[in-house]
Amino acid sequence: MTTFSNFTYYNPTRIVFGSGTIASIEKLIHTDKKILFIYGGGSIKTNGVYAQVTEALKGHTFTEFSGVEANPHKETLDKAVAVVKNEGIDFILAVGGGSVIDGAKYVAAAALYDGDGWDILEWKHTVKKAVPIGAVLTLPATGSESNGGSVITRAETQEKRFFKSEAVYPVFAVMDYTVMTTLSDRQLANGLVDTFVHTAEQYLTYPTDGMVQDGYAEALLRNIAALAKDWENRRTESWQKNLMWTSNQALNELIGVGVPQDWATHMIGHELTAIYGLDHGQTLAIVLPALLRQLRLQKSKKLLKMGRNVFGLEGADLTEDKTIDKIEALFRSVDVKLTLSEYGIKADVDAVVTALKGHGMTALGETGSITPDVAACILQRAL
Ligand code: NZQ
Ligand code: ZN
Repeated sequence: MTTFSNFTYYNPTRIVFGSGTIASIEKLIHTDKKILFIYGGGSIKTNGVYAQVTEALKGHTFTEFSGVEANPHKETLDKAVAVVKNEGIDFILAVGGGSVIDGAKYVAAAALYDGDGWDILEWKHTVKKAVPIGAVLTLPATGSESNGGSVITRAETQEKRFFKSEAVYPVFAVMDYTVMTTLSDRQLANGLVDTFVHTAEQYLTYPTDGMVQDGYAEALLRNIAALAKDWENRRTESWQKNLMWTSNQALNELIGVGVPQDWATHMIGHELTAIYGLDHGQTLAIVLPALLRQLRLQKSKKLLKMGRNVFGLEGADLTEDKTIDKIEALFRSVDVKLTLSEYGIKADVDAVVTALKGHGMTALGETGSITPDVAACILQRAL
């Protein structure tokens, strides 16, 4: 069996978890900082988060920037970049879900770069420095609050691209799960699916001897399966705080150290959001099962391991297909659809594959086996 490889693990984000913790930002940000307080479309104004943040920042100097959209647009964020440059901002406080936090990472990096910020997403500029960021998380899903990733959309060209840098890890992430009470069922379900798929993309590859990586990934996957099973209690504090902590742990880079990773579901999903406007979580529930059916032999050993250790399959029931059936049933149990046509979308497979090719995504997956032709087969299964 392949042994897991050497790695460096770096995660500098201080996690402040729990009810009533938003007030702690008063002490987490020094009063000599000029802060840009960046947020989304206004949900924080209706659920009391805005009031808690401004109360905590009473003794600080801050400028507000609102209107960061879901799947944040470069065009919007460039306006915030100008504010940071013109007002000498030296700290960015992102209050929202993955979109706002990802957007803040772009702003933090682009503000210390002389060229066009999109160069970062095209990997023409490597981010080595960024304005420091703090995050107040309002939607658990992406793990963006304590990782170095960011996904940005350029509306003009309908492109959704990502970058990663150690420079954009938030210095802190405040995770007050009581803010989740205003999330819709759709957002909770998206968060649950995203968390499952983040874990799966770092686990459903080929076997290694990484006991910590596999064991912890399985624990997180079992959490998600248990939360899905307990969907009727999704409005309880216990359910919500467990989703928040699980989703954070799924993508704080730990379970992927030294082991193969896939990420093809995300790359194909990003193109579907860019072209058809589906939510991030919705795209993942469409692509992952289709991808697993297509690659069930390549991923056989780990599919069987997941079937046994996560879903409790045994004997004649322990097959690749039955494991994939379980994943589909999990997504369905939280009311997330599994095909594009269920959303009324008549997808153009060629257009999606062309977009993937245009973004250099021609050898996806843990072994690079997902060529454009294989991606087309996956998409055919997802129609
Ligand atoms: O804009 P506001 O008014 O805040 O409303 C948001 C938004 O409409 C709303 N919302 C957030 N917290 C709320 C709330 N509504 C009520 N109560 C609350 N407490 O929810 C809507 C969706 O928010 P968004 O931030 O877009 O969701 P999510 O956290 O799922 O983020 C998705 C984005 O993250 C990227 C995705 O591609 C997508 O662009 N990802 C980032 C990753 C990373 N940085 O590591 C990895 C992920 O795989 C993902 O690709
Ligand atoms: Zn995701």
